[in-house]
Amino acid sequence: MKAIFLLCCLGLFNPVFAEELTGLGGKPDDPTPMPEQRKWKDQEPLERNYVQQPPLIPHAIDNYEINVKVNKCLTCHSWTNYKQNKATKLSTTHFTNRDGIDLATVSGRRYFCTQCHVPQTDAKPLVENTFKPIQSLQPQ
Ligand code: HEC
Ligand code: HEC
Repeated sequence: MKAIFLLCCLGLFNPVFAEELTGLGGKPDDPTPMPEQRKWKDQEPLERNYVQQPPLIPHAIDNYEINVKVNKCLTCHSWTNYKQNKATKLSTTHFTNRDGIDLATVSGRRYFCTQCHVPQTDAKPLVENTFKPIQSLQPQ
């Protein structure tokens, strides 16, 4: 027993250990490959599939901060700023709080825009989908 322990310490069993280590995620010096990043580009807005759908974001939003102090999205989409930026203004639903009261500022439940709005990408659908909106409520 002592002999095996010693051999290990001397590094004579190293090949075995080296193999085990690579199995655990590569040698320490190997750079970890980055997952492929989605490339978002500014595009024509995709048509909405149904009227209540949060529209997809047709532009990149990298580094757009949304926190208690700043909301980058509102610098273009608020009612004060939308014209100047040629952006779509928030719809009035964004000002209604959960008790159905219309507020003067964006309601807390609509403040974190990316909870509902995500950038467009041409990713393949994960499952087949044959959804069609009812005729009388076709989005324009
Ligand atoms: C620099 C200004 C600017 C900022 C900042 C910005 N947007 Fe936009 N956004 C635009 C403009 C301009 C359009 C309209 C593009 C068009 O119609 O071709 C647009 C379109 C959209 C649309 C589509 C609206 C529709 O009717 O289809 C959504 C949703 C949207 N933005 C969400 C966001 C969100 C969420 C953020 C923050 C993460 C954000 N935007 C930040 C300028 C901005
Ligand atoms: C809880 C989900 C939710 C959040 C959070 C949210 N939205 Fe929306 N948004 C929607 C839905 C649903 C619609 C489409 C129906 C409607 O207007 O309510 C919409 C519509 C829009 C539109 C299109 C309005 C129009 O007249 O066609 C814009 C622009 C937009 N949102 C921007 C934003 C921005 C900017 C924020 C963050 C300040 C935000 N939204 C936060 C759900 C959300």
